[in-house]
Amino acid sequence: MSTAVLETKLDTLSLDGLAPPEPQFADGQMTPHAEAVTCPFSGKVASESEDGEVAKCPVAHAAPEISIQEVDEELLKTSLEDRMVYVKDFIGFGREQHQILNKIAPLVTGMIPQVVDDLYAKLFEFDVTKKIFMKRNQGFDGPLPERLEDLTLDGPQITYRKIFMKSWARRVLTSDYSSGKTWAYMDKVGIMHTGVKSFKHRAHVSPLHVPYRDCALTLGWVQTVLQTAVLQLPDEKLSLPEKIHAIAAISKVIWIQNDLFARHYTGE
Ligand code: HEM
Repeated sequence: MSTAVLETKLDTLSLDGLAPPEPQFADGQMTPHAEAVTCPFSGKVASESEDGEVAKCPVAHAAPEISIQEVDEELLKTSLEDRMVYVKDFIGFGREQHQILNKIAPLVTGMIPQVVDDLYAKLFEFDVTKKIFMKRNQGFDGPLPERLEDLTLDGPQITYRKIFMKSWARRVLTSDYSSGKTWAYMDKVGIMHTGVKSFKHRAHVSPLHVPYRDCALTLGWVQTVLQTAVLQLPDEKLSLPEKIHAIAAISKVIWIQNDLFARHYTGE
């Protein structure tokens, strides 16, 4: 095939490819209209009836009108209240999730001390996470080791640190999620890890810098432990439907806490 012939063929091919497709529907539309739903018993179309009224068929419902919520991105950054409205609505966190978390609280809070011990053991497995605990804690004036290898899980500062983590874990399960104060606390927990001071009682200590990466991984670790504990509860304490509900609620609240960390790192 000569170069000229090949060029002509390629031209034709590309033109064929670029030519606008023929309209697919009688009214010239390129995309299909929503299919009319027909009642399998009366044969009537759900969206219409002879008198122009929408048919009230219990089986075939007319497609619901799709509405879109307007979200002010600037307010998402500046107003915790607005952000929480959006985040809770998006993830589906409301009264039911609040209730099931409070219901499982007495069934799993007994294991929190062990969970926190295991969490610190996890954070001590890696130098990047362990070295953060070499700094002096707020309110702690006891002795501190000088070398990373001398920092032990049963040292006085770590024992002191665990109190805060236990308190956070209890709050996740027992908090009143209808109160803005709960989200404000979770937001401050996020802020304080970014090097910015958020709690009044930490005003006079050096800022804490924990990479977002490690906060997110820790949240994932805690989520798995809590969910496993719920699944292991005997059925007479928590029925299977309640367990399913609780697993979802734990996942949602942990992801909300994740958002309240992430937003301070990403600025979104
Ligand atoms: C699930 C993720 C995490 C949560 C929920 C969390 C929660 C908390 C809370 C509640 C406090 C105490 C706040 C207060 O003063 O009242 C705190 C402090 C602290 N956190 Fe975290 N944390 C997380 C991840 C991490 C990670 C990954 C590290 C380090 C690798 C870390 C290191 C620290 C340190 C060093 C303090 C300061 C202790 C002090 O000076 O008093 N945190 N954290």
